[in-house]
Formats: sequence, structure tokens, C-alpha cells
Amino acid sequence: MSRKNQTLGEFIIENQTEFKYSSGELSKLINAIRLAAKVVNHEVNKAGLVDIIGAAGETNVQGEDQQKLDVMANEKFIQTLTKREIVCGIASEEEDDFISINSQDENHQNKYVVLIDPLDGSSNIDVNVSVGTIFSIYRRVTPVGTPVTLQDFLQPGRNQVAAGYVIYGTSTMLVYTTGHGVNGFTLNPAIGTFYLSHPNMEFPETGKIYSINEGNYIHFPQGVKDYIKYCQMEEQDRPYTSRYIGSLVSDFHRNMIKGGIYIYPKSSVASDGKLRLLYECNPMAFLAEQANGKASDGFGRIMDIEPTELHQRVPFFCGSRLMVEKAEEFMQKTL
Ligand code: AHG
Ligand code: MN
Ligand code: MN
Ligand code: MN
Repeated sequence: MSRKNQTLGEFIIENQTEFKYSSGELSKLINAIRLAAKVVNHEVNKAGLVDIIGAAGETNVQGEDQQKLDVMANEKFIQTLTKREIVCGIASEEEDDFISINSQDENHQNKYVVLIDPLDGSSNIDVNVSVGTIFSIYRRVTPVGTPVTLQDFLQPGRNQVAAGYVIYGTSTMLVYTTGHGVNGFTLNPAIGTFYLSHPNMEFPETGKIYSINEGNYIHFPQGVKDYIKYCQMEEQDRPYTSRYIGSLVSDFHRNMIKGGIYIYPKSSVASDGKLRLLYECNPMAFLAEQANGKASDGFGRIMDIEPTELHQRVPFFCGSRLMVEKAEEFMQKTL
């Protein structure tokens, strides 16, 4: 069904019937995300020229200093999705609580909730390094026409109907899945159109890149320390190469293309690691599995975790299948 150089708009229409529930609502939602991505891309590109870099002066629910672009991207995505009235609820890294969009009104029959990390890797903005946006989409579990509840957002990742990311890099790409593989679209900035440039993206079964913040080594569990040493050993095809950007989206994107593993483990200073299950790990896990990769918390499948909190954190091991399985082996050994 897909052919290179198809526009994202054409691709969405042509593949609409592949969606699990093809009412056209999910297509409209992906279209709205495409639009918001272009707006945010335009703003991110101006960083350095206008006063949009640096701290916004507020702290988010995670205790992080919000950057001006965190706030801007959050607003743009929420505005775009709210104005079009195509979702009944939104949860965001930058919002303490979920937002309900006319969900109590029986005239609004919208079925989907969206969870977003509006700007991923925001500590990289000031130094002109790639950042991203991550999104995750579910069908609500409570009846339409009644207010959305926390239950609609606290669903295990395996229930996702779509997920993806935008990477604002040397070029801007939108990469997403609706459960039928992963496709990547590159923005032609001259005409503001995304074109299918990376059809059927897949992680190589194994690779040579490991991505982890080794500055925290001393705090890592023994299994992770042992796996890092394994990566560095001169044996077979090792030592591997260490690459860590500090933007999950960018590290994931590179590893999917080249083959590699990304790890953000728990540590003696962060008992569940840093990354958030609902709007960082689950969408990336869905993409990884759809691209023949794997995503684990070190011991089991990320998408089978039953969430208990909106901003819940979880250890994250994600990438080429054989590499994730090897890291899990090391974790098991030191249980
Ligand atoms: P965010 O900018 O959305 O808060 O996410 C930052 C995350 C993730 O993108 C990245 O992989 C990780 O934080 C980096 O953390 P460290 O600086 O602790 O390595
Ligand atoms: Mn943040
Ligand atoms: Mn993030
Ligand atoms: Mn973020």
C-alpha cells in the first residue's frame, strides 16, 4: 500500500482501512498531530534568533525546570487537538493532571485520548541538538458522552491504537505506527509537506551501539554495570560503540536505523529510573515492537505493565531484539 514519496496526507487516506476501528476519527487525529508538528518545527527552528531558549521560570510536576520551548510545544499540541475537538482527553508531561475536552457533553462522540511528551530532550535546545515530540493514542475505556477519567489514561501499552514521534533534527521527520509496521515521513520545509521517506522501518536484529548515561555508572544496578562491561569487552564483534545524545527520540531513531540498544535503568538515586511510562516508554515500546525490536524494564515487556499513575516512571531497555535480550540476561543473573 505504501510507496516512496507519497505524502503523509495521501498515506493516511490510503491506509485508513487498516486501522483497527476505521471511522476516520483516528485519521483526523494523526492529521492534527501532523499540523502541530509543523507549527512546533517552525518555532524550534527559530531558537537562537528569537527569545525562546532558556528556562521558562516554572517547574513541572516532575520537579524539572520547564524550558520556554517545553511550554510552547505543550501549548501548540494542546491547542491543535482541542480546537479540532477530535479527542476527548489529553495528558502531557507538562500538565499536572489530564485535560478533559467536552467529554461530558453527549454531543461529543470522540473516542480517543492522547498522551504526549511535547518536547523530548529539552535540555538540548540551547545547544542546537535534536529534540522531539512523542505521542501515544488509546481508545477511551469509559462510555462516550461521559467525562473522561484517569482510567482512560492508565491503560497498559498493549492497548495503544497508534503511537509515534517527531524528530526535529537535521531534517524533521514524523515516524508512527497504527499497529501495521512503522513508517517515517520527512518534511520538505520549502512546501511544508511530509513525504514517505522511510517505509517499513525495522531495527536490525542486533547492532553495535549502546546508549546510556554512563556518568551515572556508580549508581547503576549490578546487572547494568555487567552489561556495560560486556559491551566494552574485546571479543567477537565487540567492543561496541557508545552513543548518547540525551534525547530519547534521537537516540531511539539512530538505533532503529543503525542497530543498537538504549538503556535508562533504575539507580540508587532514582528507584524507577527517569523516563515516564505513559508518554515516553509505551509509545517507544509500541514503535520498537512494530519495528521488530524489543522494549523491556529489564525483566519483562514494557507494554504489559499496568499503570498506576499518570507520571509513573519505569526503567527502560529498548532497541535491537538480541541486544535487549542479552541485557535482560545480565539483569536476571544479578537478581
Ligand atoms: P524530557 O526532555 O522530555 O524531560 O525528557 C528527557 C529524557 C530523555 O529524552 C533523555 O533520554 C533523558 O531524559 C536524558 O536524561 P539524562 O540527562 O539523565 O541522561
Ligand atoms: Mn521534561
Ligand atoms: Mn522526554
Ligand atoms: Mn519533554
